[in-house]
Amino acid sequence: MTAPRLEPLPDGVANLADFEAHAQARVDANAWAYLNGGAADELTLRTNRAAWDVIKLHPRMLRDLAGGHTRITLLGRELQHPVLLAPIAYQRLFHPDGELAMAHAAAAQGAGLLLSAQASVDLEDVAAPLLAEPGAGPLWFQLYWRDDRDFMRALLRRIEAAGFQALVLTVDAPVHGARDRERRIGFKLPDDIRAVNLGGLKKPLNLQPGQNALFDGLMPRAATWREVAWLRAESRLPLLLKGLTHADDAGEALARGVAGFIVSNHGGRTLDTLPATAELLPPLRAALGPDVPLLVDGGIRRGTDVLKAMALGASAVLLGRPYVHALAASGALGVAHALRLLRDELEIAMVLSGCRTLADAGPALLWPGSFPERTPR
Ligand code: FNR
Repeated sequence: MTAPRLEPLPDGVANLADFEAHAQARVDANAWAYLNGGAADELTLRTNRAAWDVIKLHPRMLRDLAGGHTRITLLGRELQHPVLLAPIAYQRLFHPDGELAMAHAAAAQGAGLLLSAQASVDLEDVAAPLLAEPGAGPLWFQLYWRDDRDFMRALLRRIEAAGFQALVLTVDAPVHGARDRERRIGFKLPDDIRAVNLGGLKKPLNLQPGQNALFDGLMPRAATWREVAWLRAESRLPLLLKGLTHADDAGEALARGVAGFIVSNHGGRTLDTLPATAELLPPLRAALGPDVPLLVDGGIRRGTDVLKAMALGASAVLLGRPYVHALAASGALGVAHALRLLRDELEIAMVLSGCRTLADAGPALLWPGSFPERTPR
């Protein structure tokens, strides 16, 4: 197993946001635009954060909290806490260890990990540290659909053989969002950073004169419900969908054997003006009932955000950009520290609001009128 570099933590880091300035000092402007940007006016990017901020907690006092914990059960497995690392592509853009650092940090902190299809490190190398650590969080593989069934079949076999425990199909990004920060700077991947697990896949777009690059080029190759059914039939691993926002779509997915969902707007990177994920979550939970795994990401930065997400019905949360800031600032140790900070904040928030376990976090923990309704207006 390849060991990650050990680097000192930056001074004066008290919370996740504190990593950001250290990260920016070590990452070039090209990679920074890719990491921190959102789509168009970045309204969704900003509203994700703002939505957690406006929800207020309404704690209970003097309860007996002895023996409390942050454990949850997800897809039949007990996890030490509800924080997983979101799939983020090309992490070697931000640190030479890339996804390897993410894996070691997740293993050390009992965190689950979703590896991006566009990872810049071999998937087997990312799986190894988690599989070697008893009690490590779950190891899931995030897929983007590629219109080459032989390629997809071979990739699925590789993912299964490497020990991944679930598949996550991202459905909200059949095309790159209109990201102005990237366009302004002319974002380009450096030659030495690639989606190493997608090697061998290259199909040229054969457009005829007058055809539209999106509707005639990309869309005939994009995932539809047919491809969801194909993935279900081709792999024994449970399949989750990331990026569904409509309860009717979720119902359709369940009917096709989908095991769970990640409520996400891709961190505000795809369609701008989508609601915040804190707003999208309650109606989906109401429609799905209490038992379907329903994770959420977007703007989660504080232990109180995690607690609020659980109170709104999330089964667990994904952390996105902040762990990449920590990665850029100080590699695997940085990511592990970021996870530890978030876990500590969550524990403190639970104690101060009278929650012995996360099952105690429900709508009653939230100040009336400060949180989104369970049905869209
Ligand atoms: C992403 N995200 C993403 N999602 C996905 O399903 N596959 C991917 O390859 C990527 N790649 C990616 C790259 C970068 C640079 C970012 C910032 C995000 C989206 C990611 O998984 C997650 O949904 C958001 O990042 C969560 O929002 P926050 O925590 O970043 O606000």
